[in-house]
Amino acid sequence: MMVCDDYRLFVLLLTTSSIVAAVSEETLNVYALLGSNLTLSLGQKLLSYQDTLRWTQNNKVIFSRLFGVVRPGKPTDVDAAGSLQLLNLSDSSAGDYKADVYDRTGVRVNGWSGKVYVVEKVSTPVVTFLCGSSGATATLKCDVRNPKHVVFAWTHEGQLLTGETKPTLSVSLAKFKGNKVFGCSVSNSASKAQSNAVQLKCKPPPPLPPPTPKDYCFKASTVMAAVGLCCSSSSP
Ligand SMILES: *[C@@H]1O[C@H](CO)[C@@H](O)[C@H](O)[C@H]1NC(C)=O
Ligand SMILES: *[C@@H]1O[C@H](CO)[C@@H](O)[C@H](O)[C@H]1NC(C)=O
Repeated sequence: MMVCDDYRLFVLLLTTSSIVAAVSEETLNVYALLGSNLTLSLGQKLLSYQDTLRWTQNNKVIFSRLFGVVRPGKPTDVDAAGSLQLLNLSDSSAGDYKADVYDRTGVRVNGWSGKVYVVEKVSTPVVTFLCGSSGATATLKCDVRNPKHVVFAWTHEGQLLTGETKPTLSVSLAKFKGNKVFGCSVSNSASKAQSNAVQLKCKPPPPLPPPTPKDYCFKASTVMAAVGLCCSSSSP
């Protein structure tokens, strides 16, 4: 296998709307956002008219150019270096891509191999919480619209809680001094989003009042009204 040493640097620019994944003969994992454009780059080297270029997706030839004749594919699918331009990525754009370049003598002079993942931008997560019945514990929940391939992280007062990577977080309130402000952040390989901050307020439940006759009667009425026996003594 021949490798273009000049072009082995792998560059993946996620901040721009158009993403460039540069040459390497190792199989790369490329993550890109749904709806974005992606260039699978063979590097800067211009191809000769006599070079044969072939791109496959999932072992199916999607572009082939032989002495300037393109079939299948369109001439505009690649740039002058033979890099493949994928526009408006959809789920069907994902998969294994390979490129092979052969010179006029049939020697393979360049190539590319990688797996493309199309990921949705994560939505802004929303944190909610439920207090435990004793008021000493709480369970927080981090909700995100599209949780597929999402990694969760939790913060207390902006500090990362290491090891907490689930969509729910159970806390013992005594462990956290000061303001009990929590948040979560979610990320996938192509985007990241931070939740609102929530302040945990869990009160211990009030002591149960001793049952009064009225309480008893009210409760009894719900059970006994049907048989007409309730509350005659306390009715006005
Ligand atoms: C993708 O490329 C097309 C054609 O070049 C362009 O019109 C479009 O704005 C690009 N989309 C993004 C998200 O950059
Ligand atoms: C991109 O693709 C989506 C769905 O595949 C389609 O609805 C949308 O119109 C396309 N956008 C452009 C600019 O082609």
